[in-house]
Amino acid sequence: MAKLQLGVLGSGSGSNMQSIVDAIEAGRLDAEIKVVLADVPDAKILERARRHGIPCQFLDCSPWKTKLADAAELDCIRILREAGVDTVVLAGFMRIVKSALLEAYPGRVINIHPALLPAFPGIRSWQQALDYGCKLAGVTVHFVDAGTDSGPIIVQKAVEVREDDTPETLHARIQVQEHLAYPEALSIIASGRYRIEGRRVRIG
Ligand code: GAR
Repeated sequence: MAKLQLGVLGSGSGSNMQSIVDAIEAGRLDAEIKVVLADVPDAKILERARRHGIPCQFLDCSPWKTKLADAAELDCIRILREAGVDTVVLAGFMRIVKSALLEAYPGRVINIHPALLPAFPGIRSWQQALDYGCKLAGVTVHFVDAGTDSGPIIVQKAVEVREDDTPETLHARIQVQEHLAYPEALSIIASGRYRIEGRRVRIG
């Protein structure tokens, strides 16, 4: 299989992108990050990309706070294509991507979500799990489809909820598992040894 040519979209700290960079640099993942885009001009993910010499830029989604407008999405597709991206990695990107991106990259848009889907889609899922009284929380890496946090699941990892957990401590432990799960899921895609049957991703 050819090396994955990744385009990463994020909004925040970029710790998941960092875990992907680390896996590439350690030779655990056959991929290259071609471009990083953030919808927040001073997002730390851009700073991390610069530190590793990865091309990056701000994706202007104004005036919308949470919506990815058509023009911004088309701009995003153009930048990804020009960079030679074949796989789009959503790493803490807090906007819902729409059909134009999914049509430009069919079966090649991946997302990480801080919950054991289908439980707790949406935002601050670790807080939702805590409020619900769950004993297990976790992380899901999945293909993106037209729904919200609803595509076929590639990798999941469970995290025990502790009696004394706060939203912050639980999210921190979920993030430890995220940083294992994303490189693992991308390695599966890089290997090409998977097939999607209905909702199920069969690996091997
Ligand atoms: C991660 O916890 C990720 O799962 C979550 O945002 C955080 C980004 O962290 N994503 C979502 O909630 C998407 N619905 P990072 O910027 O350090 O990678």
